[in-house]
Amino acid sequence: MKAGSCQLNPALIIVLVFKLCFYGVSNSSELQVCKLCNGTVLSNSTVGLFCSSSAGRIGGRCCLNNGTSGDTDRITGLDLSNCSLAQVGNLQEASTATIIDLSLNPIDNISDFSFQGFIELDYLILPVKVLCPGGAISWKKIEEKKGNRFCEGQNSMCNQTRQMCCPENSQCAPFGPGLFECSCADNYHGYKCLREGEFPVLQVFGPLSASTVVISFVLWFTQRRMAKPL
Ligand SMILES: *[C@@H]1O[C@H](CO)[C@@H](O)[C@H](O)[C@H]1NC(C)=O
Ligand SMILES: *[C@@H]1O[C@H](CO)[C@@H](O)[C@H](O)[C@H]1NC(C)=O
Ligand SMILES: *[C@@H]1O[C@H](CO)[C@@H](O)[C@H](O)[C@H]1NC(C)=O
Ligand SMILES: *[C@@H]1O[C@H](CO)[C@@H](O)[C@H](O)[C@H]1NC(C)=O
Ligand SMILES: *[C@@H]1O[C@H](CO)[C@@H](O)[C@H](O)[C@H]1NC(C)=O
Ligand SMILES: *[C@@H]1O[C@H](CO)[C@@H](O)[C@H](O)[C@H]1NC(C)=O
Repeated sequence: MKAGSCQLNPALIIVLVFKLCFYGVSNSSELQVCKLCNGTVLSNSTVGLFCSSSAGRIGGRCCLNNGTSGDTDRITGLDLSNCSLAQVGNLQEASTATIIDLSLNPIDNISDFSFQGFIELDYLILPVKVLCPGGAISWKKIEEKKGNRFCEGQNSMCNQTRQMCCPENSQCAPFGPGLFECSCADNYHGYKCLREGEFPVLQVFGPLSASTVVISFVLWFTQRRMAKPL
C-alpha cells in the first residue's frame, strides 16, 4: 500500500467512501428542499433563466428535469436566494443540481460536507462572506460581484492527488467540491475490496481535522452495512 507516499495537500478535504452497493433513493413527490422557503423560482432570476434554457420545470424553489431516464424528477437547479437562511442544512435531495443560489441569506459559513456528492454542481452563488466549498483549488473560477460570490466550474480532485490516495482495486471519482471517493473496481466485490483495502485510514486522515475523521468513519460504516456479499 502506497498511502505513505500520498501527496496530500492539506487544503484538500478528502472523503473515502467504499461504495459497494449504493442505491440513491428519491421520491419526486417529496422533495422537501424545494419547499424550504416560500415562493417559487422567479423566471428572471439566475436559476429561472437556467431552467428555461434547459427546458426544465419550476417546482417551488427548484428547477426539475426528467432527464433521459424519463419518469423521475431530478433537481437540476435550486434557488434558495433571499430565504432568511442562517445556516445551510441538509441539501442532499438537490445533489443532482447543476446550479444553486444561496445569495441574500445571513449565512456565515458552510461546511465542506454540505455539498458531498454534488458532482454536477457547476455554478454556486453565495453571500460574499462565505467561501467556496473546498477552497479555491476546487473551482475553475471564483468571482465576487454585487455582494455575491460565484463559484464556477468544479475541478476534479482525482487529478490533484494523482489517484495515489485510493487503495489498489479501487478507483478515484469526484464526489463534490473538494471531495473524492474511492470505489471498488468492478471485479472486486463486497468484502474483498474492503479486505484488500486494509488501508491505513488514520495515516491518511492524520493531517485532517477530527470531524473529518468522524464523518468519514460514519460513511465507512454506513456503506459497509449496506454492502451485502454477492
Ligand atoms: C410562508 O407562507 C405562509 C402562508 O402563505 C406563511 O404562513 C408563512 O409564515 C410563510 N413563511 C415564511 C418564512 O415567510
Ligand atoms: C424580475 O422581475 C420582477 C417583476 O417581474 C422585477 O420586479 C425584478 O426587478 C426582476 N429582477 C431582475 C433581476 O431583473
Ligand atoms: C416528466 O415527469 C412528470 C412527472 O414526474 C410527467 O408528468 C411528465 O410527463 C414527464 N415529462 C416527460 C417529457 O417525460
Ligand atoms: C427578499 O424578500 C423580501 C420579502 O420576503 C422582499 O421584500 C425583498 O424584495 C426580497 N429581495 C429581493 C432582492 O428579492
Ligand atoms: C460557523 O460559524 C459559527 C460561528 O460563527 C461556528 O460556531 C460554527 O462552528 C461554524 N461552522 C462551520 C461549519 O465552520
Ligand atoms: C484532469 O483530468 C481531465 C481528464 O482526465 C483533464 O481533462 C483535465 O485537464 C485535468 N485537469 C488538471 C488540472 O490536470
